[in-house]
Amino acid sequence: MSGFGIDLGTANTVVCHRRRGVVLDEPSVMVVPTGPTRSRHVRPLLVGREAREMMGRLPADLTTVRPLHDGVIVDLEAARGFVIGIIGKLATPAWQRVRPRAVIGVPAGATALERRALLEVADEAGIRRADLIPEPIAGAVGCGIDPMEPRAHMVVDIGGGTSEITAFCYGGVLSHRTSRIAGDEMTLALYRYLRSEHQLAVGELTAEALKCRVGEDDGLSTVAQGMDLASGRPRLLTLEAGEVMDALRPTADTIVAALAGAVDDLPPQSADDVLSDGLTVFGGSSLLSGFDKLLEAGLGFPVRMAERPLTCVAEGAALCLDDPAVVEAYEGTFVGAF
Ligand SMILES: Nc1ncnc2c1ncn2[C@@H]1O[C@H](COP(=O)(O)OP(=O)(O)OP(=O)(O)O)[C@@H](O)[C@H]1O
Ligand SMILES: [Mg+2]
Repeated sequence: MSGFGIDLGTANTVVCHRRRGVVLDEPSVMVVPTGPTRSRHVRPLLVGREAREMMGRLPADLTTVRPLHDGVIVDLEAARGFVIGIIGKLATPAWQRVRPRAVIGVPAGATALERRALLEVADEAGIRRADLIPEPIAGAVGCGIDPMEPRAHMVVDIGGGTSEITAFCYGGVLSHRTSRIAGDEMTLALYRYLRSEHQLAVGELTAEALKCRVGEDDGLSTVAQGMDLASGRPRLLTLEAGEVMDALRPTADTIVAALAGAVDDLPPQSADDVLSDGLTVFGGSSLLSGFDKLLEAGLGFPVRMAERPLTCVAEGAALCLDDPAVVEAYEGTFVGAF
């Protein structure tokens, strides 16, 4: 039977087929016309990678829209347009005929209204039956952790819009923290730093690429290209890796503080389990160079980085298609039942 695991993230949307593995991995962005349209429905002109390429490069009558904010749907129409558009990229005529099943990851703190919005959108996109699973649990499954075993585990998902920290054991949640400080905030911090300390204006995509490049190559420096704020002329700037890390440190510290809070909430026996197994970290922002060291230093816990931090939520969700007990157990851990 056909089935998919779906991670509809603030920054990226990943779809994993139960047998074929990851079949779609695209930015959660679309290009739509600005101003009033005759149709009530949002019809994106470009979706995913092509739309992201256009960010900061669009004429006035077009705009880019990110349909999710902080991991949840806020504008139902925009999300509907996006999901139908993105699924259209992998849908063969068979998709409509078969109407596949799906397990979809949602932030553990998503409200009943936000979860219902997602289910509605999935239904319209042609999914026969969708089950929801908290993203941290799906990610844990994708990293090979069994969330039903009688042993406590703690995972941290640092994505684009949110950082989520969850400890769980035997089908239940022990502690949970969420913060709106994640990758997007890091990009913004670097963007502001370049303006205030170096009088250099860069685009959003450039700031993000710089952030991801820190620590690559020789690991010491990287070159930033932008506009000089004083002269209005293009300028190249050599940035030391340490300097970039300093600019990002306040955001990273906020995440460490939230983590420390979640660890404090743990009963001592569970803290013991986490201390001996280590904390599992995933989400794109965990790829930031030196982030594992920063976490280890801030917490004193061993840290285990996921092998595939960008896709493990969708992969775990796909594995849950064959493990309804996990979906059922963690359904009840969302805030406010339907
Ligand atoms: N090498 C890297 N170094 C630092 N940050 C990175 C790197 N690669 C990706 N990122 C960041 O990871 C973030 C995207 O991660 P991910 O795809 O896990 O988010 P998401 O699941 O879409 O968001 P959310 O879970 O908040 O809804 C972006 O902010 C991106 O800039
Ligand atoms: Mg995510």
